[in-house]
Amino acid sequence: MKKVVISFMLLVVAELTFGQSNKLTVDVGNSKAKIQPTMYGVFFEDINFAADGGLYAEMIKNRGFEFEEPMMGWLQPNTNRFSLNKNSGAAEIIKGQESGSNRNICRVTINNDTGYVLLNEGFRGMGIKKDARYRLSLFAAEKSGNIRKINISFVNNAGTVVGTTDIIPHGSDWAEYTATLTAAAMEAKAKLKITFEGTGVIDLDMISLFPEETWKGRKNGLRKDLVQLLYDLKPGVLRFPGGCIVEGRTLAKRYQWKNTVGAVEERTVLINRWNTEFRHRLTPDYFQSFGLGFFEYFQLAEDIGAEPLPILNCGMACQFNTGELVPLEQLDPYVQDALDLIEFANGDVHSTWGKLRGDMGHPEPFHMKYLGIGNEQWGQQYIDRYKIIEKAIKDKYPDISIVSAGGPFSDGELFDYALNELKKLNADIIDEHYYKSPQWFRENVTRYDSYDRNGPKIFAGEYAAQSVAIASPDNKNNWECALSEAAFMTGLERNAGVVVMTSYAPLFAHADGWQWTPDLIWFNNLTSYGTANYYVQKMYSTHRGTDVLSIVFENGEAVIGQHGLYASAVKDSGSNELYVKLVNTSDSLQQLSLEIKNHKVTDNAVVLKLTSDKLSDVNSFDNPVKMSPTESRIEIEHNHIKTGIDPYTFLILKIRLKQ
Ligand code: AHR
Repeated sequence: MKKVVISFMLLVVAELTFGQSNKLTVDVGNSKAKIQPTMYGVFFEDINFAADGGLYAEMIKNRGFEFEEPMMGWLQPNTNRFSLNKNSGAAEIIKGQESGSNRNICRVTINNDTGYVLLNEGFRGMGIKKDARYRLSLFAAEKSGNIRKINISFVNNAGTVVGTTDIIPHGSDWAEYTATLTAAAMEAKAKLKITFEGTGVIDLDMISLFPEETWKGRKNGLRKDLVQLLYDLKPGVLRFPGGCIVEGRTLAKRYQWKNTVGAVEERTVLINRWNTEFRHRLTPDYFQSFGLGFFEYFQLAEDIGAEPLPILNCGMACQFNTGELVPLEQLDPYVQDALDLIEFANGDVHSTWGKLRGDMGHPEPFHMKYLGIGNEQWGQQYIDRYKIIEKAIKDKYPDISIVSAGGPFSDGELFDYALNELKKLNADIIDEHYYKSPQWFRENVTRYDSYDRNGPKIFAGEYAAQSVAIASPDNKNNWECALSEAAFMTGLERNAGVVVMTSYAPLFAHADGWQWTPDLIWFNNLTSYGTANYYVQKMYSTHRGTDVLSIVFENGEAVIGQHGLYASAVKDSGSNELYVKLVNTSDSLQQLSLEIKNHKVTDNAVVLKLTSDKLSDVNSFDNPVKMSPTESRIEIEHNHIKTGIDPYTFLILKIRLKQ
């Protein structure tokens, strides 16, 4: 009896010391499926201040006075709501002064030189960096009197000026004025202060401020640090502009791409549907200026090397809200929007929409190959509308691959209906969404193993593990979520023959202006960081490979979570490398003995490792790379690797194939 106890204890000690042992074999000789360049992408939605206040580098909130409350974002310290102190001056909104979508202007009356002030609060403040230069522009027309000068300054919370410039207005005709502001200090929450010298009446519009340092130095540009994070992901596809934002709560408030192109000042401002969607995260000042519009999205996709995948409204408002429907016989404008978008992206510059693209600075086509019809629509109402739009697109542009909606859930009646119907219709690519617990991700790694290889392809277009529950404000981008996604992604990768695109969701969140968590990248007005989930995505997308290989236990079983271990393997025929992904979701060490068969490899491998001690760990502004990959090397003896995989760890073994 004593002997038995001792050997049991030895076994336990051995298990703790040496861990579970796993003998795996990768077969390099046999490509099981091709991996599409679009396999690992990103999904951009204008939620969480992702566009205005985020990626779009404009620093003035409500620059054109077009919000529903036209002075929102603009503070007039000299007045208050109940007693207008008009001694020094006043600002009022004049409606309908200009044609088109830019309707409102701000008329400022200066009565004396005692210092009338207009302040713009930015998007939860303005982040400014010492010595950085900022481009100011505004439209002005002097109506009467003599306003000699407009002074424009950054002020900090204490009201101290931290950078100043001025503009000398001339004449009663509308003219654009520009100036440069240099910040004298770093401030996270500066404001822009405008004062006037002289007396009189002056009309102002489109008061705009951008850092000079935008991505590629473009005017009307994007935040450099945020695009850099996207660029570093090397995403294969960029899905935009949403999400539910495409659908709108009502059809009148849906996303209409034609309102987002052409001259920036003519783009029609629209309330953002996330403005008051969540009672726990009200953001009444959330609007869409569309300064980041469809042209800029296409340009961004081109810059980061991703295929553009725009999603269009299909004649249905969000079914979680009003579910308004366009009658089938009135669907023409929606069909036309789709056809015109293809012309805008790909058409000759002599075509109507191709010309607009050329006039906007991109005569070359954007070579768009994919187009999404609807977001999370469901039911027969969707299928009916999908059929009409799909037919019109395929008749005119047979080479465009269409992404259809699999609905908002990963399973159930609505999901089954959508998949069955779309399969009957021979749909190209179906977009599936799932926001689930980390455990669900670990347990559903075989989700796509049984999908029909001859049916529609799959886009896992929105997925993310939720640490608490879907749409809970307490969700965290913690290591348990990221690790579980890493485990699940081995299943996506093994099934690259059917899953041709994927993207984590949502992409961006402003620390002071978010509505939805978790998100891939967090930022404030000065800085940004990638979450642990970001680094998981990055490790996959930068080691995508071209061919799926088999990686199995001795008994031929795939590595799908036995003892918490997950694995996938790919070959990259371009770089002539083998990438083995291994995820240990258990709390104990796993021993690995890996044999590489059917191709000679070099005698060492790079090991990329992403790990953390605690599943609750998160990256943060204070510790932005607490979880980020580290690199080391490991020996390979005669095509054989022996190593241990630490608890809660995601590894990639990068192995060079001999010629
Ligand atoms: O990403 C947030 C929302 O989640 C998206 O708009 C929608 O498609 C999904 O339900």
